[in-house]
Amino acid sequence: MEKSKIVHGVRMESIGMPLQDKAFFADEYLDVGPGKQVMVRFFEDWYPKYATFPVLSDDVWVVTYPKAGTTWTQELVWCLYNDPDAPESKQPLTRRFPFLEFDSLLDPRLPDMLPPGSVASDDPMLPGNTWKIVQNLKSPRFIKSHLVKDLLPEQLWKVNPKIIYVIRDPRDVCVSYYFHNRKILGYKGTFDSFVDLFLDEKLIFCPLWKHYLDFWKIRDQPNILFLRFEDMKQDLGSAVRQVAKFLGKEVDDAKVSEIVHHCSFSQMSANPAANNETFLTAPTEDSKIRFMRKGEVGDWKNHLSEAHLKAFKEWTAKNLKGSDFPYYQDY
Ligand code: A3P
Repeated sequence: MEKSKIVHGVRMESIGMPLQDKAFFADEYLDVGPGKQVMVRFFEDWYPKYATFPVLSDDVWVVTYPKAGTTWTQELVWCLYNDPDAPESKQPLTRRFPFLEFDSLLDPRLPDMLPPGSVASDDPMLPGNTWKIVQNLKSPRFIKSHLVKDLLPEQLWKVNPKIIYVIRDPRDVCVSYYFHNRKILGYKGTFDSFVDLFLDEKLIFCPLWKHYLDFWKIRDQPNILFLRFEDMKQDLGSAVRQVAKFLGKEVDDAKVSEIVHHCSFSQMSANPAANNETFLTAPTEDSKIRFMRKGEVGDWKNHLSEAHLKAFKEWTAKNLKGSDFPYYQDY
């Protein structure tokens, strides 16, 4: 791997993170690997574990850029293998379908920064616990990641387990990520500044287009399923059948209906095991923003100005130059 390059702290200054919020998520970032993915500085300590992570052939991976429909797809996949009403379904997704690199986002000093007893010692929100959860998963294992293709475990490309990659209109991703950053990290800057950071690829897990296009290039491999949020939204039943077929799971109409109901926005929003409200949030008013916020296609229309759209258009054209990627070019 190319030696990581420190990204200057200017980014966090421009984000305007209040001091107390820094306690939860570090304020130093790294550009990592050939794709220069933006990661929190602790990633360097964790990366060797991720790179050499032993992959199993019956694993199911959900890989995405954040806010593209990760949680929705995770719950859908889990329900294909399990009874949505079984007691295990009450466990949060952070345990049933852990987020591989989550520990690398957390300050190792976090436990000392929280009020004593406020978080259980085995809570997936504490650094190191997700790694333990991942180690103890029983097969078939379900694993989520936001890493770009280059940074995913090397064995993924030898063992070839099933990988579901989900994309969403970058304009909706941007709006959703804005609220996510306010809620989870305590982002205090303006929406305008956030759009700039998004298009400049200066947010955690950027760059978006490299993320999408690397998987687009391998979409025809038999172990890859390329899904779109918009298609799931349009016809979730078809998406359930498509994912089931890909994973080799037999589903009858009743099972499809059950999953469509269980994975509807209203059901998932009300389900503490699936709505990600167990995520540790910055101690601000914005922690009240819901992770399951709107779940719509086209919410960007309520937020992006003409100037933003022009910038999105240029950014998209620049990144898609020479690519056969067919979506999200009608800005
Ligand atoms: P919004 O912020 O636009 O509402 P991720 O899980 O990748 O972080 O993505 C989160 C986004 O997916 C949020 O988008 C969330 O509301 C939406 N989402 C999650 N579950 C959903 C569902 N069952 N139906 C529709 N959208 C859903």
